[in-house]
Amino acid sequence: MFTIITGAQFGDEGKGKIVDMMASHYDIIARFQGGDNAGHTVVAEGKIYKLHLIPSGVLFDARLLIGPGTVMNPGILMEELAMLSENGVGVPPSKLGIDAKTSIIMPYHIALDRLRESKRTVKIGTTSRGIGYAYIDKVGRDEIQMADIADKNRFLKRLDEIAPQKEAAIKELGGDPMIARSEIDDYINIGVKLRPYITDVSREINLALKQGKKVLAEGAQGTHLDIIHGTQKFVTSSSTVAGSACASLGVGPTKVSNVIGVIKAYITRVGEGPLPTEQKNDTGEHLRDKGGEFGTTTGRPRRCGWFDVPLALKSTNLNGYTSMALTKLDVLTGLDTLKLCLGYELEGKRLDYPPEHSDEIARCKPVYVELPGWHEDISDTESFSALPENARLYVEMLEKLIGVGIEYVSIGPGRKQTFMK
Ligand code: GDP
Ligand code: IMO
Ligand code: MG
Repeated sequence: MFTIITGAQFGDEGKGKIVDMMASHYDIIARFQGGDNAGHTVVAEGKIYKLHLIPSGVLFDARLLIGPGTVMNPGILMEELAMLSENGVGVPPSKLGIDAKTSIIMPYHIALDRLRESKRTVKIGTTSRGIGYAYIDKVGRDEIQMADIADKNRFLKRLDEIAPQKEAAIKELGGDPMIARSEIDDYINIGVKLRPYITDVSREINLALKQGKKVLAEGAQGTHLDIIHGTQKFVTSSSTVAGSACASLGVGPTKVSNVIGVIKAYITRVGEGPLPTEQKNDTGEHLRDKGGEFGTTTGRPRRCGWFDVPLALKSTNLNGYTSMALTKLDVLTGLDTLKLCLGYELEGKRLDYPPEHSDEIARCKPVYVELPGWHEDISDTESFSALPENARLYVEMLEKLIGVGIEYVSIGPGRKQTFMK
């Protein structure tokens, strides 16, 4: 069985919580794209784990894999392993495998990301983690891979080849060219420590599937941050949609069993870019306060708005979802009236699907339907039928409009706060 989970909006949908919830049923959990721009939260036994690189199934027995389509900052990985160890969660090489081809984020990627962003007149609002520049090097065939840092001579030779152009690029953007060759010893030391973790992720997964084992691919970011299909230029630099899991993990599409979309009961976005239903008012404040909508990685306040059906419809197309996990329904509690964006008005025309260009999306005026809210606390609800009537109506309306079954409903960050619909 091969399951893919992706975020159906702009990230932070609650993928970490949903992966943790499902992890005990899987033998392997694999990250397939992105890097430590991701921040996936798992709340378990009174502790909050903020994971950036380690798959969110870490608290269970499953084998964890970091695939070759990811970009990995080894220092951040070491910090994460230390944090887990301090919490009594050991992650030895028998538990975690990192593909030999995983792209390594170097100090110059981070420097270039920051310098470029500071020069942009229209900002993207990146996480400053060097993600974009690491992917540029992958496509440009100038990447340094996991297997390179684990082999000192190969790493230094590769760096000699690459560093001069990085020095020039940093200088051109007004930065310090010395960064290009900084932290080399740290990378070499970490490379030695990570050597035992190196594996061939595609081979492991295909073997597991042949043995009838269960594999879960954990997406990072969200569908509308996809490098090809998202709201460019306000996107991340990897393919965040479900198909990317196959290409990036080296698993054929014929092996996919199901694709689950994680989607919030409203919408958020961190960083710049269009968000037609954004609420810069009391409603937005309610969602941010009650939903704790501050970036897991950067701490930035997330922009909040009403649920956007056209964007959800596009997500179902891009991912081929077989079911959805609806999160943060509890955050809507206490609002007298809820609004659902059914479509947009753009230059006198009514649209029920997002236009292709970001400028056009930014000019779209949402067309809403209003629904009655509820005031009862739902955070302890154990079944769909126990929800207040208006909450049931809201979920049923979403399901009908998206056209994909809502399999799970999440009503709080904790493990017990999910039920099947
Ligand atoms: P991810 O990036 O998709 O894994 O999501 P994040 O972890 O960045 O952000 C989701 C936040 O919402 C985290 O703080 C979660 O603990 C929290 N969360 C997840 N599901 C729910 C829910 O149903 N209700 C509430 N109130 N919080 C939730
Ligand atoms: P998870 O996995 C929300 C956003 C950034 C910025 C844009 C590009 O936790 O859902 P980047 O650093 O990737 O070049 O930034 O993408 N972004 C995210 N937004 N959740 C994330 O990850 C994100 N990862 C990147 O805010 O707008
Ligand atoms: Mg997040």
